[in-house]
Amino acid sequence: MTTSHRNLFILLLFLLPLSSSSLEATSAAGTIIFTTLGRSRYNFDIFSLPIATSSSTLPPDNDRQLTDGVSVNFNGFFPSLSSSSFLPSSSSSSSSSLDSLLYVTERNGSSAIYLDLFPSVSASASPSVRRTALQLPTRLQFPLLPTAESPRGAPLISMMDRPSLSGDLLVYVSTHHPSSSPRQSWAAVYSTHIPTGSTRRLTPSGVADFSPAVSPSGAWIAVASYGDEGWSGDVEELRTSIYLLRTEDGSRRSLLVDHGSWPCWADDSTLYFHRRGSDGWWSIYRATISFASTVVSVESVVRITPPGFHAFTPATSAGAPGIIAVATRRQTSKFRHIELIDMRNGSNVYVEVTRPVAPYSHHYNPFISPDGSKVAYHRCRGSSNGDPSLLLENIKSVAPENFSLLRFDGSFPSFSPDGKQIAYVNLPGLFVVNSDGSSKPREVFSGNAFPTAWDWKRKGVIYTSTGPEFAGESTRVDIISITLPDDDGDEDAQAQPSIKQLTTGGENNAFPSPSPDGKWVVFRSGRSGYKNLYIMDAEEGESAGIHQLTEGSWTDTMCSWSPDGEWIAFASDRDDPGSGGFSIYIVHPNGTGLRRVVHSGSSGGRTNHPCFSPDSKSLVFTSDYAGISAEPISNPHHYQPYGEIFTIKIDGSDILRLTHNSFEDGTPTWTPFFLEPADVAEALDGSARCSFDDCHWLNINKSPT
Ligand SMILES: *[C@@H]1O[C@H](CO)[C@@H](O)[C@H](O)[C@H]1NC(C)=O
Ligand SMILES: *[C@@H]1O[C@H](CO)[C@@H](O)[C@H](O)[C@H]1NC(C)=O
Ligand SMILES: *[C@@H]1O[C@H](CO)[C@@H](O)[C@H](O)[C@H]1NC(C)=O
Ligand SMILES: *[C@@H]1O[C@H](CO)[C@@H](O)[C@H](O)[C@H]1NC(C)=O
Repeated sequence: MTTSHRNLFILLLFLLPLSSSSLEATSAAGTIIFTTLGRSRYNFDIFSLPIATSSSTLPPDNDRQLTDGVSVNFNGFFPSLSSSSFLPSSSSSSSSSLDSLLYVTERNGSSAIYLDLFPSVSASASPSVRRTALQLPTRLQFPLLPTAESPRGAPLISMMDRPSLSGDLLVYVSTHHPSSSPRQSWAAVYSTHIPTGSTRRLTPSGVADFSPAVSPSGAWIAVASYGDEGWSGDVEELRTSIYLLRTEDGSRRSLLVDHGSWPCWADDSTLYFHRRGSDGWWSIYRATISFASTVVSVESVVRITPPGFHAFTPATSAGAPGIIAVATRRQTSKFRHIELIDMRNGSNVYVEVTRPVAPYSHHYNPFISPDGSKVAYHRCRGSSNGDPSLLLENIKSVAPENFSLLRFDGSFPSFSPDGKQIAYVNLPGLFVVNSDGSSKPREVFSGNAFPTAWDWKRKGVIYTSTGPEFAGESTRVDIISITLPDDDGDEDAQAQPSIKQLTTGGENNAFPSPSPDGKWVVFRSGRSGYKNLYIMDAEEGESAGIHQLTEGSWTDTMCSWSPDGEWIAFASDRDDPGSGGFSIYIVHPNGTGLRRVVHSGSSGGRTNHPCFSPDSKSLVFTSDYAGISAEPISNPHHYQPYGEIFTIKIDGSDILRLTHNSFEDGTPTWTPFFLEPADVAEALDGSARCSFDDCHWLNINKSPT
């Protein structure tokens, strides 16, 4: 670009109208939608099978579905009816005996713990006779502490996980309280005394605890916890250690096993747990504990499962001594299956549980009934009638008066300026769908494209970039505009979108975001050898002028132009180039006013995909700001299981966590139009249901080290 071009360009930028948005919104109201990787395929229910440890007992043809077939239900536990004062004892209920199941359920936009009572095995399995005895969190009373990030009066929103019941005490993980610093997990262990609702946090502040297990006597809880070092970005195995603490008040907290997680008790002095061994295989270990006087110590740690396959998420029951249920990944199956390890005769006998009855499903997180008669786990329930997939899933909003929050089934969604359409990516291909679900998704570009952004002025113009994502500086990626055929009136099957390539030079041109006056597009380009931001003409592309906005030997990317035209927000690793850590910055389109808005901890913290609020005063973004919320091995694959959605004011104040789950939430967008906080169904190809991957990093072909 010549100097005169450059000056002209800068002059034009100065003339950008300061309030050019045609949108009426003047406040932060509206709707935020975001993507959760694979989540629309997770129709999890809990299933059980009788424990048959001798080969003479044939397993049944099907496993028994224990949960409702509508919600996403997982991480169950079988309470003992006789040990809890508030449950009817099994014998007292006249004719039919009862079973109970405690589990996590995601329904109506939030995470909750439910306890169901239902007739046991031989009786009718009809869901109509099942009744939900206790619905949490309505019965939960968290100690609400006023903090900057969790204003008093805000709806109670948190992730609930890994429930168990010991007598009348419900023990579980919750992300209710914000951690004291960025990039520290909010996961902590709580107990609630069910008859009174009295709730106690058992995890000290500054610490994250996962996967609690109450000892058979009820006196101790074993947890997987970060020590002083905290979470350092692990997305495979969490580098936790096993701690013991007193169930009644969290006291006498002590380190039991350095390096281990997912503890379970065989008896009051024997714990099983998993860890990834130094040979790379996930394996089950046994720790023998001695409670001599006041000192708790470990007498021995023994590896139970050999190298050559992965075994993890162990479960035990006092009613099944000498038996552990585990999930495995073996070379003989592409799927995660539940097996029993029968150790009663001195040698370990492996008994397949799920492969004979459901060979082509992943099965997660087994648990055994108190009487040792059955083993249960969760898996995708498969296709069933009356179980619609959702285009938009309503998620309970922390500020319902200000915005609705919806999970969208597609990546990189963006709203048309009138809010009526959503463009999104479902690789390979870019699609448009009506935001009220009244149309089928329409493919408007068939190549590999990311992300999506609508022109504010020219109707039906969508910007994207085409080429491989996550590629190096020198990869061929170009920005294109897609002009949709004028589709008001009748359908014209012949009308095709027109495609125009906007970048002609340089490499890795991506993440276009148009200015609200429709004149410019900001994007990132690797043309200098580093990814920095550039601005070009929106209609003609770089042939009509290009201007470098940011410059430096680092990566600036994921840019978003504010609706008032004043700011461009972007993600940058300039604080620590090459570290993988990204902060969010804003800069005026004329290059002045650069400042950092949010940063998530030093050494690799991530804040990405910023998008402005309709009033241009806040940003929504995805981040590891709240650390990680569950052991990644206990979920299907997520590239970034720590991803949660947050908002923040552009002055860096008032950070607010919007999502609480252990999945990868990303690519949020914000429209001024208020979409009803209600689910919107979509027509999903039945074959796509339940198609999700197990953890990619579980290498089953050879030792991963
Ligand atoms: C979800 O909310 C609707 C409307 O409030 C209610 O009718 C329904 O029972 C709820 N579903 C569950 C599973 O709680
Ligand atoms: C264990 O040994 C006993 C006695 O020898 C035998 O009856 C039983 O079937 C064996 N159990 C298994 C699981 O092999
Ligand atoms: C909702 O909007 C009002 C008015 O702009 C603001 O005062 C309040 O802080 C907002 N609440 C949240 C939780 O963002
Ligand atoms: C750059 O743009 C900002 C925002 O529009 C404006 O306040 C500032 O004065 C401009 N800077 C220069 C040097 O013109």
